Amino acid sequence: MPSRLDGPQKVTGQARYGMDHTPPGTVYGYLVLSTIAHGEIEAMDVTTAKGAPGVLGVYSPFDPLDLRTPTTPFFGETWVPLQSREVTYYGQPIGFVVAETFEQARDAALLVQVTYQARPALTSLEDGLATAQDAPAAMDGAPPSLSVLAPGVESIEDALAASPVVVDATYRTATQNHAAMEPHSAVAYWTAEGLTVHSGNQASDLQAAELAGALELKPSEVHAVNPFVGGAFGGKGRTSAPAFLAAAAARALGRPVKAALTREQVFTATATRAATVQKVTLGADTDGTLIAIRHDSWCSTDAARSFVEPTSHGTSREWYATQNLAISQKMVPLHVPPTTFMRAPGEAPGSFALESAIDELAVALRMDPIELRLRNNSSAPPGKDLQWSSKHLDECFRIGADRFGWADRSPGGHRDGDWLVGLGVATAMFPALRFPASVEVTLQQDGTAVVATSGADPGTGLLTVLSLIGAESLDITPERIVPRLGDSSLPSGGLSGGSTATASAGTAVMAAATQAIDELLALASGPGGPFDGQEVTYADGRVFAGDRTMPFAEVLRAAGRSSLSVTGSSAPGEELTKHSFSSFGAQFCEVRVHRWTREARVSRMLGVFDAGRIINEKAARSQIIGGMIWGVSAALHEGLDIEANGRLANADFAGYLLPVNADIGEVGVHFVEYPDTLHNAVGAKGLGEIGTVGMAAAVANAIHNATGVRVRHIPITIEDLL
Ligand code: MOS
Repeated sequence: MPSRLDGPQKVTGQARYGMDHTPPGTVYGYLVLSTIAHGEIEAMDVTTAKGAPGVLGVYSPFDPLDLRTPTTPFFGETWVPLQSREVTYYGQPIGFVVAETFEQARDAALLVQVTYQARPALTSLEDGLATAQDAPAAMDGAPPSLSVLAPGVESIEDALAASPVVVDATYRTATQNHAAMEPHSAVAYWTAEGLTVHSGNQASDLQAAELAGALELKPSEVHAVNPFVGGAFGGKGRTSAPAFLAAAAARALGRPVKAALTREQVFTATATRAATVQKVTLGADTDGTLIAIRHDSWCSTDAARSFVEPTSHGTSREWYATQNLAISQKMVPLHVPPTTFMRAPGEAPGSFALESAIDELAVALRMDPIELRLRNNSSAPPGKDLQWSSKHLDECFRIGADRFGWADRSPGGHRDGDWLVGLGVATAMFPALRFPASVEVTLQQDGTAVVATSGADPGTGLLTVLSLIGAESLDITPERIVPRLGDSSLPSGGLSGGSTATASAGTAVMAAATQAIDELLALASGPGGPFDGQEVTYADGRVFAGDRTMPFAEVLRAAGRSSLSVTGSSAPGEELTKHSFSSFGAQFCEVRVHRWTREARVSRMLGVFDAGRIINEKAARSQIIGGMIWGVSAALHEGLDIEANGRLANADFAGYLLPVNADIGEVGVHFVEYPDTLHNAVGAKGLGEIGTVGMAAAVANAIHNATGVRVRHIPITIEDLL
C-alpha cells in the first residue's frame, strides 16, 4: 500500500506550514487575552506598549482593526476579535500588538494595562444545569427533543415502567481541546490582487470566504493557501483569530504580518469540545431485547451558544433498534471558551454514555455484552424506514471477538500478578456523509495529469487519496498523477471534516476523469485529430482506434493542445431518499489496573470497522489508530480543569494530559471491506472520526470487568479506582 506522498516532506522538515512563510518585510503580531471570565473592558492603557521598542500598532476594542462578522452558508456567523468590549470568557482575544520582531510584540503585549468592570461568571456545568435551555435544532435539522413510541404506548416513562430490566445512570465527560501540533497561526500580506493568507485550516475556500466577508472583499480577492496543516480535528474548521487579525493588521500597516497563538493561548483563543452530562435509561426484556431507550443530554456552550455537542442526537440517528426512543438535548451557556466540532462531535462523548449503559445492562442481564449488542442490531436508524445501505457490524464483532480472544473473558476479569486484567467492548458508529465538491483534472503533454481541488489535507492523507482515485479513474499509474490541494484558487473541494473528504472529493475526481476521457476521445476523433472520424476507445492512459493506439500525451500533441482541463462536480442527491448511511465498528480493549497503585493501563486494543471501500489501507489504519488512541486519551487523560474564575488550570501539555507512547500498548485495526456504492461512486463511507467513537466506553467497561468499579465519568483517574 502506498505511503502518503507528503510524508517525506513532513518528516524531513521540507513541508512548509503556514508559519514557515516569511515574506520580505514581515512584522509580528501577538495577542492579548482577557484575564476575567465575564464583564466589560472599562479601559485599556496602551501608552507604554505603543512606546515600546519596535512597536508598530496596538489594536483593541477601543482602537479596533477594520473587520466585520462574516457569514458563510456552511458555518453561519463566525466570531471576529476586537469588535466589542464585552468579555465572555477568560482568555478571550482582546488586543493585538504588532512589532518589528516577535519578542518586541510579546514584550509590548505584556505592557497593555486592562481595567475591567467584572460581572459574576458562571463557569461550571454542574452549577449551570439549573439554567439549561433547549438546544437549537441540530445541523441536520433534528429538533432538541424527539420521541418515537410503539403503537399504543403513551410515553417513554410507560415503556420503561413496562420493561422487566431497567438500567438508569448519569455519565459525565470533560471539556477537551483539539490540541493540534500546529498552533493556530497565520501569515498575511496584500498585493494589487488582494490578500494572501497562509494559515492551516480544513477547507481553503471556506477560509477565503470567511476572510472575504470579514474584510469586505470578493472571495476571489482572497488567496488562502494551506497545502500542509499540522492537525485540525474540527478546531480549524473556522478561520482563527490570528488569521483575521494578521490579515486586517497587514492591510492597516502595509506590511506582511505573522501571528501565532502560544500553546497556552490555543487552549482558550480557539474553541473546545463541550463538557457533557448525560442521563441514559435503558429498558429491556429478560432476553436482552431493548424495549426503550431514553437519552437526555446537557452540554456546556459559550455565551454565544456557538455549538451544541449533539450527544443524544447520535443515539436517535444511528444506534440500536428499539420501539421506544426519547432523546433530549439541552445546552448550558457558560462563561467559558467557545465550543465547536471536535472529531466525532456528538458520537465521541455520546457513545461513552450509551455504550457504558449498554455494558451496565449486560451486567444486569448476566449476558455477554457482544450478544446483547447484536440482539439489538438495527437494520435502519431507530424510528426510520430507510434501511442502512450496508451494515456489517455483526461481522466486525465476530472477527474482533475471535482475534481478541473474547471467549477467554470472564465476568470478573482475571489476575496477572499484581495486575487486575479486564476486557471491554463497545460499538462505534458515525454517519456516512458527503458534501458538494468540485475537482479539476488536467491531462498534460508530458503524460501526467493534475488532480486539483481547494480543500485541505490536515494530516488525513487526502492528497494521496486524490492521486489514487485519479490514477484509477484515468487508468494510469499513481506516479503520473500530480495532486494539488489546499489552495482557495482551485475548484471548491469541500471540507476535510465530518469524515466526508474521500467520498466528496473522490466522487468529484471520478466525475472529472470521466469527462476528461470523453473530451480526449472527442479531440482524438474530431476534425484534425489523430483519429479523425474513427471509432475510439480509452484504456490504460491511451486512445485506441482499430489496431492503432496512442498515449493521451501524444493525442494532445497531435491535436496541437498543450493540455486538456475539465472540472467535475459531485453532490449528495437522490440516494438520500433511498437509504440511511453510516460507518460501523467494534472496539475491543484490554485494561490492566494495578492492585496497589490503581493505575490503569490499556495493554491491548483492537478495532474492526465497516467503513465501505478503503482507498489506502495504510493511511486508513494510521488514521484509525490515531482515533482509537484519542479514545484512550479521552478515557484516561484529557480534560480541562476550569477554575471558578474561568481560568483554565491546565492550559499546557504539562497539565492537559495526552497519552505518550508508553501509555499505549498493542493497537490492532481491521477492516471488513464492503464498498458502498449506494452511498457514492467511490464506495467509501468515511473513517476519519469513527476510530475514536466507543473507545472511551470500551476502556471504562474493561476497567469494570477488571475491578468491579463502574466509573461514569471521563477522564478516569487513579482516585476513581482507589
Ligand atoms: Mo471534524 S470534528 O469533522 O474535523
